[in-house]
Amino acid sequence: MTMIKLIDQLVWVPAAAEIQIEKTWIISSIKKLGVKKIQALAKVASNARRLSYSPYSGYGVGVGLLTASGVISKGVNAEVASYSETDHAEESSITGAIIHGEIKKSGRKFIVAIAVSHDGDTAPCGRCRQIIVEHCDNALVIVADPKGKIRRITSVKILLPYAFTPSDLGK
Ligand code: THU
Ligand code: ZN
Repeated sequence: MTMIKLIDQLVWVPAAAEIQIEKTWIISSIKKLGVKKIQALAKVASNARRLSYSPYSGYGVGVGLLTASGVISKGVNAEVASYSETDHAEESSITGAIIHGEIKKSGRKFIVAIAVSHDGDTAPCGRCRQIIVEHCDNALVIVADPKGKIRRITSVKILLPYAFTPSDLGK
């Protein structure tokens, strides 16, 4: 085998066809849920954002999380003066759903869609992506502005490709 062929086999990147399949999954998931429902989720996120406790960064984040049982769990970031103990909004919405019995109702993989509302045109941080992937095979991720207007819709698989998941530990 030539060096070029060997390198070509070792390089681990998504094929263009896989990205196209993911795009199709995102579009069909949007249609299945309905644009109205997704807009409503973004609105929940923006309303939650107003309750954010973020005096240090001034960067409020709100979340509306749609679960498999049809419940919408809210989340906000809650900062701590020492910074690193800060709760992220995505994380708090997931913990909230668990507290309300979602795992008992739907099992571990309960996230259907997660809408986040904040000032930036950006997606959940790496830590939140890992926490989200704990609770779904894939899910819609909706990024909305502080008024709840949708900026982008993507998926967990796009945000965290080659994720380390419970299945890697045989779970
Ligand atoms: N933040 C979140 O709530 N979620 C994220 O994934 C990104 C960051 C919060 C943490 C902190 O309170 C503020 O945004 C600025 O980093
Ligand atoms: Zn985060």
